[in-house]
Amino acid sequence: MASRISHKLLIYHSDSKVYERIISRKLPRLKIHSASRPKEALGFVEEAEIILAWEIPDEILERAKRLQWFSSLGAGNEHLVRNPHLPKEVTLTKARVYGEMMAEYVFAYLLFIGRNVDKHLKDQRKKIWDQVIPGRLRGKVLGVLGLGSVGKEIAKRGKQFGMNVLGLKRIPEPVENVDQVFGQDDLGKLIPLVDCLVDVLPLTPQTHRILGKKELVLLKEGAFLFSIGRGKTIDEKALEKVLLTKKIQAVLDVFEKEPLPPKSKLWGLKNVIITPHVSGISIPEEISEEFVKNYESWVRGEALTNLVDREKGY
Ligand code: OXD
Repeated sequence: MASRISHKLLIYHSDSKVYERIISRKLPRLKIHSASRPKEALGFVEEAEIILAWEIPDEILERAKRLQWFSSLGAGNEHLVRNPHLPKEVTLTKARVYGEMMAEYVFAYLLFIGRNVDKHLKDQRKKIWDQVIPGRLRGKVLGVLGLGSVGKEIAKRGKQFGMNVLGLKRIPEPVENVDQVFGQDDLGKLIPLVDCLVDVLPLTPQTHRILGKKELVLLKEGAFLFSIGRGKTIDEKALEKVLLTKKIQAVLDVFEKEPLPPKSKLWGLKNVIITPHVSGISIPEEISEEFVKNYESWVRGEALTNLVDREKGY
């Protein structure tokens, strides 16, 4: 449904032109201005009623005096929830498209390791026929820290693979595909039970470095740790130490500082797989589709989906 009103949308992103092309096809009446650098946004932002962006310089945001809705391209919006240039009256929504993608990432690596993909590829090059028994997912215990849209997709895939799924939620309550939900205070009870711990917690004052040495040493030998939400929810120095002394494996996609500095010891550890924050990455077609649906609700005066709760911080 195309709106009859002509709203003004600022898209701020390195791929802003791509977003503009897709969105303008669906919403031809929307007045779109795309920018990838501050100076390209400054003239238009004062008129903009909607901004579609993730990280946006304060010098732009502080001029957005007509802003009614900030549609974030990201799942985690800790930099926006308490930003003084984004008043509480401005609606803040997040992107929800990342759940499936991030679940694919977790199971890609679990299967890659469990099915010895690396070994068999190396053997193939040397014409070696070596049958090894693969690790199974069925019957293993998966722990998901954070049961928002991403955590729920991971839990669902875990169930489909026959895993027992445990989860951590700020306020524990039953969640589909999760066999047992623990509250934040019971983190120490959950960790020793799992074969694979996936951290997708949003970054809030309560989750900052929630996985410290005390918690990480509780991981059982052979367990996997996935960090794919926010690097700052883990004490990285403590993690380095535990990885050096304990037989656990970590698959790390997010870090306290990104890009991960070359001097970080994590790069060189044998029991670590590092990827550059790609477990969930914005695909313009997917994000635009979500934005267009929400925009149509907005013009009809209906409630938007994927609202960010500023108090909770996610
Ligand atoms: C996000 C991210 O939160 O890319 O969207 O980390």
